[in-house]
Amino acid sequence: MSSSLSFTNPPANLPLKPIPGSYGTPFFGAIKDRHDYFYNQGEEEFFASRIKKYQSTVIRLNMPPGPFISQDPRVIAVLDAVSFPVLFDTSKVEKRDCLDGTFRPSVSFTGGYRTCAFLDPSEPNHNSIKAFVLSILASKHNAFIPLFRNCLSKLFTDIDKKMSSEKKVCYNFMNDAMAFSFVFQLLCEKDPADTRLGNMGSIYVDKWLALQLAPLGTIHLPSFLKFLEDIAIRTFQFPFFLVKHAYDKLYKAFYEHAAPLLDRAESFGIKRDEACHNLVFLAGFNAYGGMQGVFPALLKWVGQAGEHLHAQLAHEIRTAVKEEGGVTFQALDNMTLTKSVVYECLRLEPPVPYQYARAKKDIVVHSHDAAYEIKKGEMIFGYQPCATSDPKVFDNPKQFVADRFVGEEGEKLLNYVYWSNDRETHLPTVEDKQCPAKDQVVLLARLFLVEFFLRYDTYTVEVKTHIGLVSYLTITSLAKATSS
Ligand code: HEM
Repeated sequence: MSSSLSFTNPPANLPLKPIPGSYGTPFFGAIKDRHDYFYNQGEEEFFASRIKKYQSTVIRLNMPPGPFISQDPRVIAVLDAVSFPVLFDTSKVEKRDCLDGTFRPSVSFTGGYRTCAFLDPSEPNHNSIKAFVLSILASKHNAFIPLFRNCLSKLFTDIDKKMSSEKKVCYNFMNDAMAFSFVFQLLCEKDPADTRLGNMGSIYVDKWLALQLAPLGTIHLPSFLKFLEDIAIRTFQFPFFLVKHAYDKLYKAFYEHAAPLLDRAESFGIKRDEACHNLVFLAGFNAYGGMQGVFPALLKWVGQAGEHLHAQLAHEIRTAVKEEGGVTFQALDNMTLTKSVVYECLRLEPPVPYQYARAKKDIVVHSHDAAYEIKKGEMIFGYQPCATSDPKVFDNPKQFVADRFVGEEGEKLLNYVYWSNDRETHLPTVEDKQCPAKDQVVLLARLFLVEFFLRYDTYTVEVKTHIGLVSYLTITSLAKATSS
């Protein structure tokens, strides 16, 4: 399929069809859909079965959490590579308060402010806060590689110790501590362990995130307990006071140690306390929350691909580092297979798989084979794993193909990688909702593989479970590098 990659502008003469699907009866339809989604079918099957039933990739359905947390759970799901990008077109859709979907956690979780990710670009403070974030990232350009390598070196040393004493390592907890430490040091230029946070930073963020995102998850309890779980976490939102203590600790640590950034925020017209709540959100929710998913996903897919790929990566990485005399931007750029592997992981397991936006006006959306009218005010929802494994764009779409993005044809496919809330070929601006750290995230993912394969030859991994957006892993064997 990759030879005919021109889906960006589908034919103008596609037939206009009514959007198929059903919301069911009020209240009960939403409860049924949410039980299918979490318990009866699981999310993959939930969408696949509806695509099959309605023979369409643009479908009406209800998205969790539904009653009583969402006012209105009805959405139009866009589930192919062509219709999905309507979610990025800010001339057609509004992204106000829909980061978490059809509900928004109380603003108490963010100091009474709606932080950047909840703002639509038409709101003036979106542009000033995003410009502030972009300026932070630009000013930290040269810090990323040395700081992240340092954090990884400590992580892998800890993993080695655990491995030699326990013969296996539960990976995620260690990943999260490393990710928090990295983000805090990037923004505050201080090790969080040497602040009032001690070693609790990632745990404080976990609590704060869990209470906001609980209505969107399941911990896969045995079936006789699933109704209890459903009622406990999806009837009312958890109140902020339960995590106030943890949030205050985070806020105070950032307020104290990110003072130079708060000074800079004032030059962007942002009040100090609003800037600090935004820093906590982007460090805790955007960056740390994202890294909780990205690095385990890399270890999972690369681990499952096996020894042959490990040898190829080790060879490519060690050769490039030797040729460039170190882990430099140029060395990273020369690693074509490593780059492709990162994109393939982001394609198969996008760290934020759900995107929402509301139609600003009556609009027409195209799939591969039809056009559909969406009315002003209707909520559009994209389940990204469907769009980025569209069989009309990607050959063997569900398979991990390490070199999928290598070469001229491979690089064209980057147009259809959407993990950052826009195309991989697009750069974030203050006028859109794309992750401002898109390129830095890809850089970190590459660095992760580089440090790993400079240190190890091969490894095996077991996937324990998938909770929320995260794969939980155990490393079951790890072989140190035998050549340099
Ligand atoms: C692995 C790490 C990361 C992942 C996976 C990630 C992913 C994303 C995604 C998918 C969005 C769009 C959310 C939506 O509207 O649907 C987003 C937005 C955002 N991200 Fe990232 N991100 C990561 C790291 C970072 C970092 C390091 C920063 C800043 C230091 C950052 C700052 C932001 C901000 C401020 C937004 C809101 C953008 C806007 O409102 O225009 N993210 N991120």
